[in-house]
Amino acid sequence: MSLIQLPPREESVPAPKITAQTLLDRKQAHQPITALTAYDYSTARLVDQAGIDMVLVGDSLGMAVLGYDSTLPVTMEEMLHHTRAVRRAVRHALLVADMPFGSYHSSTGEAIANATRFIKDAGAEAVKIEGGRNRAALVSTLTQSEIAVVGHIGLTPQSVHRIGYRVQGKSAAAIDDLIADAQALEAAGAIAIVLECIPREAGGLITAALAIPTIGIGAGPECDGQILVFHDLVNLTGATPAKFVRRYADASALITEAIQHYASDVRGGTFPADAESYHLPREASSELLAREPLKRSRR
Ligand code: KIV
Repeated sequence: MSLIQLPPREESVPAPKITAQTLLDRKQAHQPITALTAYDYSTARLVDQAGIDMVLVGDSLGMAVLGYDSTLPVTMEEMLHHTRAVRRAVRHALLVADMPFGSYHSSTGEAIANATRFIKDAGAEAVKIEGGRNRAALVSTLTQSEIAVVGHIGLTPQSVHRIGYRVQGKSAAAIDDLIADAQALEAAGAIAIVLECIPREAGGLITAALAIPTIGIGAGPECDGQILVFHDLVNLTGATPAKFVRRYADASALITEAIQHYASDVRGGTFPADAESYHLPREASSELLAREPLKRSRR
C-alpha cells in the first residue's frame, strides 16, 4: 500500500506536469525556470497553483520553520515529514527534497537508502545534495539507482563550519573550480544544479559551460532559473535579508496586524459577534425559554 496521498488533479491546473525534461527544454528554449521552497501543505498549494516550476523542500526549513540556527541539526525524519505534507499539495511543479546533513556522508549504501525514502515514502521526484566533484561518484550511483539528483554548489550551507556564509567563487581560480564541480555533477547525471551566492560572472560562466539547467540563488540573472526561500520572498523570517533577496510582500506586518486586531476584539467583547455564533433550532429555543429561570440557569 502506498503511503503517498495525492490530491485529485484539479481542472484549474494550468499547465502540464513539470519534469526533469521540462527543465532541460526550458534551458534550451531560453525560458527562465521558476523555483521556490515550500515546507507545508498550505504554502505548497499556493506556490504550485501559482505555476512555479520547481518546489524545493529545502533543509532551510531548519531555520525558517523549526527555529534552528543552521541547517545542520535537520534530521531525515523532519525532512520526510515536511516533504510528505508538500507532496499532498503539489500537482504541477517538480518536487525536489533536500537530503539533510549527515544523511549522505557516511556511506553510499546509507545515501541510497535515505534518498530512496524521499522518493518512495515521501513522493519527492528528485533529491538535492550539496557538493561538487566530491559528490560526483554518489550522484552517479544515485542516478543509476533511478533517483534524479539536483546538485548544489557555491555557498553550501551544510559546509558552514568549513567555509562560513560567504560569497564563493571570487577569483578566476575559484571559478575554474566551480566550473569543474558543475561539469563533474553534469557528467555524473545531475538533472540541474543550484548555484548559491557566487558572483554574477561566475553564474554566467557555469551556466554557459553546462547542458543541464542552473538554478541561481544569489548567482545573478544569467542562470537558467531562480530560486528563493518562500519565507524570504514574503518576509516571514524576521531576519535581515541577504543581498539577493527581493521581498514581494510583508507577511510579517500583515499577520501581526491581524493578530493584534483579533486580540483587541476579544478583549473588547466584539468577537465573536452573534453572526459568528451557532444558534439553537426554534423549537429547542422555545422549550428552553419556557423553563423556569432557576432550572434554566442550572443547565
Ligand atoms: O535549503 C534551501 O532552501 C536551499 C535553497 C537555498 C536552494 O538549498
